[in-house]
Amino acid sequence: MSAPRRLTLAAVTVASVMCVYFLYDNLEPSLALSWTHFNRASSWSSEILEPLTSEPRRHSNRTSPAPSPSPAHARNEPTPSRKNILAKPTESPFIGDSYASQNVTPLTECPDGIRSLVAESDFAQLFLGNVPVLQWLTHATPDEYRRLSRYAGANGWGGLSYQTLSDALAYLNSSANAVMFDDWKRRADSSGCVRCAVVGNGGILKDSKKGKEIDGHHYVFRTNGAIVAGFEEDVGFRTTHYTFSTNTLMNSMASYASAGFRGPPKSQETRYVFLPDHDRDYLLMKAAALRTPVEQGRDRGKDPAKYFGKNVTSTQLKMYHPDFIRYIRNRFLPSRTLKTKHRNIYRPSTGATMLLAALHTCDRVSAYGFMTPQFKKYSDHYYDRKYRPVGFFINHDLKLEMNLWQRLHNAGLITLYMRP
Ligand SMILES: *[C@@H]1O[C@H](CO)[C@@H](O)[C@H](O)[C@H]1NC(C)=O
Ligand SMILES: *[C@@H]1O[C@H](CO)[C@@H](O)[C@H](O)[C@H]1NC(C)=O
Ligand SMILES: *[C@@H]1O[C@H](CO)[C@@H](O)[C@H](O)[C@H]1NC(C)=O
Repeated sequence: MSAPRRLTLAAVTVASVMCVYFLYDNLEPSLALSWTHFNRASSWSSEILEPLTSEPRRHSNRTSPAPSPSPAHARNEPTPSRKNILAKPTESPFIGDSYASQNVTPLTECPDGIRSLVAESDFAQLFLGNVPVLQWLTHATPDEYRRLSRYAGANGWGGLSYQTLSDALAYLNSSANAVMFDDWKRRADSSGCVRCAVVGNGGILKDSKKGKEIDGHHYVFRTNGAIVAGFEEDVGFRTTHYTFSTNTLMNSMASYASAGFRGPPKSQETRYVFLPDHDRDYLLMKAAALRTPVEQGRDRGKDPAKYFGKNVTSTQLKMYHPDFIRYIRNRFLPSRTLKTKHRNIYRPSTGATMLLAALHTCDRVSAYGFMTPQFKKYSDHYYDRKYRPVGFFINHDLKLEMNLWQRLHNAGLITLYMRP
């Protein structure tokens, strides 16, 4: 090959890699969906989830055989146990439908909370009450590192050095880091149930006048470009849990500055819940805990006070466990994208992760600003100055998410805000 030709080829290769990287890195659409997708989605779901129906309990246990490490990746072999049980091969090691299990002491004795309702619902087979939602100091062990290094991005610790991991999780060493609602005792009321409002940024909230209702919950979850100032009547003003990845936060600061986004909400009751999909998240989390600039990597030198305020302490920081992200991907949002070459960049959206985390930790969940079948009637965000259609990108499956919200609502597990 001649030198100029080689150069051209190299340029084309770099350009296409950058193109995918751009997609992965820049797009975090808001929360949206469509109906026709439902059948497609559910047939694919039943395909990958069928094994659970035949033997559900097995998967709630770490004792189930872990997938073999990566060379088998491309071979699409079923795990040994499944080979015996199922005629239909389903799971490649990429999927990894086996998770750590932890003893969860229920926070409340809420008689009709989500956990008791789920057992009677269509979701009973999928739902793992003992999957770790959050990760903290205890999880950073060499064994766990070996197990989770098989999975890339938000699904594991692939691409993350043990040093970076353990240096960061070392700061999540208080009991507050290990539970979603570390201040529940202070808030508990006679109902005995934890009530959560989970607020997406969808245009359906504009002129909704839902602010008071949202703020009336024990906990209020928000994500990404959650602009509160000026929109309190529609979206409320409290934030107890702010969910983001470092990437989506930086993108939100850039993209929504003109709409008024000045960074995550800051208040004494606010907790910052990282969705780690890159070593950037571990590095920023450590910097926030230490109140020092980010040491290395792409965000080197950034001051965490800019995002979390000067007063932030490590007890306000939490981080989703990669098993939880992989679990919700595999069982609740198994997009068809997982069967394509884009499978590595697909993950549940930040908003979906936040809502499903609430489903696994709250007794009651009201969801606002999430995509509904009428999404075309509303702008992408409640703060858009003029109508912008919801954007769909390959790294998320917003229509599958929309269908899931409908199914959870119809099952009585969440109350989804939908306008008549
Ligand atoms: C799950 O783990 C527990 C504790 O390690 C063990 O007693 C139990 O037999 C396991 N269950 C299954 C189905 O493997
Ligand atoms: C957590 O780690 C920090 C830094 O090493 C230490 O100062 C603090 O005492 C630890 N807290 C707990 C509860 O162990
Ligand atoms: C930090 O905390 C102090 C004392 O509680 C408070 O007066 C101050 O406003 C806080 N600063 C910020 C930036 O939140």
